[in-house]
Amino acid sequence: MLRLTRLRLTRYRSYPEAELRFTAPLVVLAGPNGAGKTNLLEAISLLVPGRGLRGARISEVATGGAPPWAVSGRFDDGLGGFEVGTGTAEEGGPDRRAFRLDGEKLRAQSELAERVAAVWITPQMDRLFQESAGGRRRFLDRLAMALEPHLAREVSAYETAMAGRNRLLAQTREGRRAEPAWIAGLEDAMARHGIAIAASRRALVGRLNATLEAGAAGDFPRAVLALQDPAAELLDTMPALAAEDALRAGWAGSRGRDAAAGATLAGPHRADLLFTHGGKGIAAGLCSTGEQKALLISTVLAHAGLIAAARGFAPLLLLDEVAAHLDAERRSALFAALAALPAQSFLTGTDPEVFSPLAGKAEHWTVSPGQACRNPLP
Ligand SMILES: Nc1ncnc2c1ncn2[C@@H]1O[C@H](COP(=O)(O)OP(=O)(O)OP(=O)(O)O)[C@@H](O)[C@H]1O
Ligand SMILES: [Mg+2]
Repeated sequence: MLRLTRLRLTRYRSYPEAELRFTAPLVVLAGPNGAGKTNLLEAISLLVPGRGLRGARISEVATGGAPPWAVSGRFDDGLGGFEVGTGTAEEGGPDRRAFRLDGEKLRAQSELAERVAAVWITPQMDRLFQESAGGRRRFLDRLAMALEPHLAREVSAYETAMAGRNRLLAQTREGRRAEPAWIAGLEDAMARHGIAIAASRRALVGRLNATLEAGAAGDFPRAVLALQDPAAELLDTMPALAAEDALRAGWAGSRGRDAAAGATLAGPHRADLLFTHGGKGIAAGLCSTGEQKALLISTVLAHAGLIAAARGFAPLLLLDEVAAHLDAERRSALFAALAALPAQSFLTGTDPEVFSPLAGKAEHWTVSPGQACRNPLP
């Protein structure tokens, strides 16, 4: 099991300096509002590629908003372990961060994705089913990246190519000529990376549904997932190369429309992930808050099991304020499912009593501004 055994923070949000050593696969962080619980989860989330669980600007996480800051994590992977460090980069401005693996500077974040993964559920995600597709797509991509780390590279290459295409189309709208071969070249890159992205997402959703159907979420209400993405649907009926051709032809034919809109209107960057409550057969958007949380949890639990089986280690699970929304029965189903998973989980809450069924099974930290102390669960 991949485990974070030591977390060290330097000038990180409310923590001028802190070090936490974790020994258990299940970690409870409890403390009052504003104590710094979410900050700890966020710091852990920054040990993997991406912008962390708040999607914060890099400069903003420094104490007082004044860089530099640093976070490091020691991981035990059963093979001698490794150390990940991140923080303000030396070059490129305050909003760039750098990574180190065992003290060596990393050139690409994707190297890190080969070693660590983390998935989170936060209170902000309560709006996931009401809001636009973007949040659900990012959630899906984080899950898919844990299965196929190279997806991170595909997504950024796709976005770079699309931004280039949008710039050239804007030129044509302003009456300046853009070489059609350049636009076609960017559409070609978008098609190759776009189909790679669609294939990763499609494979993950298929495997997750199968895992969920096989009962991976235990006593949890089972989610049924549906990927809504015309690019992924192409792959249902044709090989990848033909699907790339179809995407290319679609974009070549929509240059006028996209130029007028000032954006590429169709493509994998518009994909959505739809959730249905398996037991009730109703869309997640119509479910209660607790049911929605349960759907996210069952998805994340099934995913952790799937990744552990596929890659030999499960992502760290960062569950912020998750227990608070659940009734006692569902809470014990969650605790039982987490204890059975080969994944390290971090749970936060304001009330340590909520976690009392975990006494003897989880390690417990009391968080207060600027520090965290280990003590037994009440
Ligand atoms: N860059 C920063 N510098 C200093 N303090 C910060 C910074 N960013 C956030 N904080 C402070 O960190 C504190 C703890 O925030 P955090 O969100 O971790 O609390 P929490 O324990 O999760 O609380 P809640 O139970 O309300 O979710 C807040 O009081 C906030 O003002
Ligand atoms: Mg919080």
